[in-house]
Amino acid sequence: MCGICCVVTLCSQHAIHDFLSEDTLCHLRRRGPDSSQQLIKTVPDLSYECLFSGHVLHLRGLVTPQPLEDANNNIFLWNGEIFSGVHVGNLENDTEVMFRHLALCSSEVDILSLFSSLQGPWSFIYYEAARHSLWFGRDYFGRRSLLWQFSNEADSAFCLTSVSGCSESGSQWQEVPASGIFKIDLKACATTKSLSLTLFPWKYSCREEAVEERRFNVLDQVAKDLPSHVHLMVNESKLCLRAPVIPLNKTVSKASGACSGSNSSNINCVVSVETLQEFLAEEHKKKLACRFIDVLNEAVKRRVLCLFRDPDQKTREFPSMSHKKAHIAVLFSGGIDSMVIAALADKHVPLEEPIDLLNVAFMMKKQAKHRGTTKRHTSHDVQLDLLCPQEGCQDGDTSTHLSSFDVPDRITGRAGLKELEAINPSRTWNFVEINVTLEELKKVRKERIKYLIYPLDTVLDDSIGCAIWFASRGEGFISNQGELKPYKSPAKVVLMGIGADEQLAGYSRHRVCFRKDGLEGLNKELEMELGRISSRNLGRDDRIIGDHGKEARFPFLDEDVVSFLNSLPVSEKADLTLPRGIGEKLILRLAAKELGLTASTVLPKRAVQFGSRIAKLESNSEKASDTCSRLKLLSVDEL
Ligand SMILES: *[C@@H]1O[C@H](CO)[C@@H](O)[C@H](O)[C@H]1NC(C)=O
Ligand SMILES: *[C@@H]1O[C@H](CO)[C@@H](O)[C@H](O)[C@H]1NC(C)=O
Ligand SMILES: *[C@@H]1O[C@H](CO)[C@@H](O)[C@H](O)[C@H]1NC(C)=O
Ligand SMILES: *[C@@H]1O[C@H](CO)[C@@H](O)[C@H](O)[C@H]1NC(C)=O
Ligand SMILES: *[C@@H]1O[C@H](CO)[C@@H](O)[C@H](O)[C@H]1NC(C)=O
Repeated sequence: MCGICCVVTLCSQHAIHDFLSEDTLCHLRRRGPDSSQQLIKTVPDLSYECLFSGHVLHLRGLVTPQPLEDANNNIFLWNGEIFSGVHVGNLENDTEVMFRHLALCSSEVDILSLFSSLQGPWSFIYYEAARHSLWFGRDYFGRRSLLWQFSNEADSAFCLTSVSGCSESGSQWQEVPASGIFKIDLKACATTKSLSLTLFPWKYSCREEAVEERRFNVLDQVAKDLPSHVHLMVNESKLCLRAPVIPLNKTVSKASGACSGSNSSNINCVVSVETLQEFLAEEHKKKLACRFIDVLNEAVKRRVLCLFRDPDQKTREFPSMSHKKAHIAVLFSGGIDSMVIAALADKHVPLEEPIDLLNVAFMMKKQAKHRGTTKRHTSHDVQLDLLCPQEGCQDGDTSTHLSSFDVPDRITGRAGLKELEAINPSRTWNFVEINVTLEELKKVRKERIKYLIYPLDTVLDDSIGCAIWFASRGEGFISNQGELKPYKSPAKVVLMGIGADEQLAGYSRHRVCFRKDGLEGLNKELEMELGRISSRNLGRDDRIIGDHGKEARFPFLDEDVVSFLNSLPVSEKADLTLPRGIGEKLILRLAAKELGLTASTVLPKRAVQFGSRIAKLESNSEKASDTCSRLKLLSVDEL
């Protein structure tokens, strides 16, 4: 993952450096610790100026410092990963490969078809010298962060960056919408002394008929957040940026759920591994589960193998094979999404290499354990809840003493570790216990995390952002022959399960939606949620994880995985007439069972903010959607 940034000024009185704060540079350097460079392009005749700043995290090929400039003065910044679509040889760096392809483009059509063909996460900034054009954008799902900021009208400056600092100028930063790619004609803008952007929106097909309505919709959506002096247009010609996935299959079958009809089939509807087994006895269901495994397996494989592994490292640094260092980590709650990813990663990561399972826990509030009887949760309830994350589980051993970091995800995480060890006993699985105290949370949020979450700002962004920051840092303890010893995960690639719930109806709001509006309503909701995942999650998560000089990779958002899941009617993916722990993400549970997982296959969905117990740690009264006062960039005592 890299940090990229570009400042553009039109006829400005100020030095271009004034528009790039030291804070921003410092945050960019943390994303790209292996090389930092800057380049200023001045075009005096046309009175525009551009500053390009590139910070590289080295993952493949030889280190390729950015920005790249070619003999024709084209300039390129790339924060991405090509997994497919454009060939990148084993020893090549994808930055150079992309730049080479771009430089060969002789028209807008060429550039759009190049970006249409890519599979993988990316954001980029490209200066096309001959046409004085600046191109930039994010991939279809917005898996890489890119922010923009427009200065006031008089300055006519404009800035793009992977991550921002504190904004001194007072203008807000915003996430660049992942609605398509953008172009600025710098020559035209410098002449008119005003900023104008052209958007090339994603479409499912270049011959798409009903585009008119939707295109203006996208245009309005993007335009409404821009300052009034910035113009936005869509090119009227039939140029096309083709979506890398197929549209969602909204077919609704008449057949009711397995357990809803009075005319019930043979399926026993309790939450158990046996129930999954009964489903798998149906040939059709089993076939689908296996096809899902195949496509997800390929996605995981690409993500664990596209990575530089030094063949000599073993003998040089670590003479004993068992001490080879981990290259791959998984954000690991022990829930079904992370279990399936870990089990598939195991098939491809070289056996002598450990896999790090990053498990985060926040110190539980003391008071939660000593609540008076007037409160709803007695300590007995809390413990029951922890030991028995499944609904309906009554007889846990409540006498066990629980340490204050034994949060729900820690408990399922340990159980998940046992399952993985059973699947592959010869692998070293490093279960990294990451315990975070309230003091540390407060300190680091103030110093770092709030700048990374910005410009997002809700209580939910705070909880998830902080949990992911600590988890992906990978600093904690691993157990070594029964003894805990400090450990820092060296893995630069962190696999995350995001995207499974959005596509497979994993959230409880999906049940609400299904009860109210049936499968049609559920289809609409799922389509909407995948459409907004860039602005709700992915930009933020990329900024958070990139801060450790690591790269997040999302197998459930692989283009082939999404296309496969989009091809299936929703009833093949989930059955919300079935209880929690079975019905949501049913196809994934069946796949997990096929892979040999056991108890984890029937764990109900638990969001990271609750599993890690960060939610409500500091305030019990706030709602997830409230603006989070703890994220204010300038807190009251600093003003
Ligand atoms: C990047 O990779 C190319 C091969 O694709 C190689 O020729 C080049 O030297 C690399 N760049 C750097 C700076 O190492
Ligand atoms: C729109 O696309 C056409 C065809 O590539 C090009 O000639 C024209 O300059 C574009 N217009 C704008 C405003 O970018
Ligand atoms: C279920 O209902 C269908 C249609 O009403 C009927 O044809 C079928 O025989 C019933 N099956 C069972 C097992 O009751
Ligand atoms: C972290 O929390 C776990 C409880 O989940 C506890 O067993 C362990 O001792 C803690 N580690 C440290 C270093 O405090
Ligand atoms: C949608 O699903 C139905 C039912 O499985 C199938 O017949 C149809 O071909 C699918 N449509 C697409 C476009 O995949």
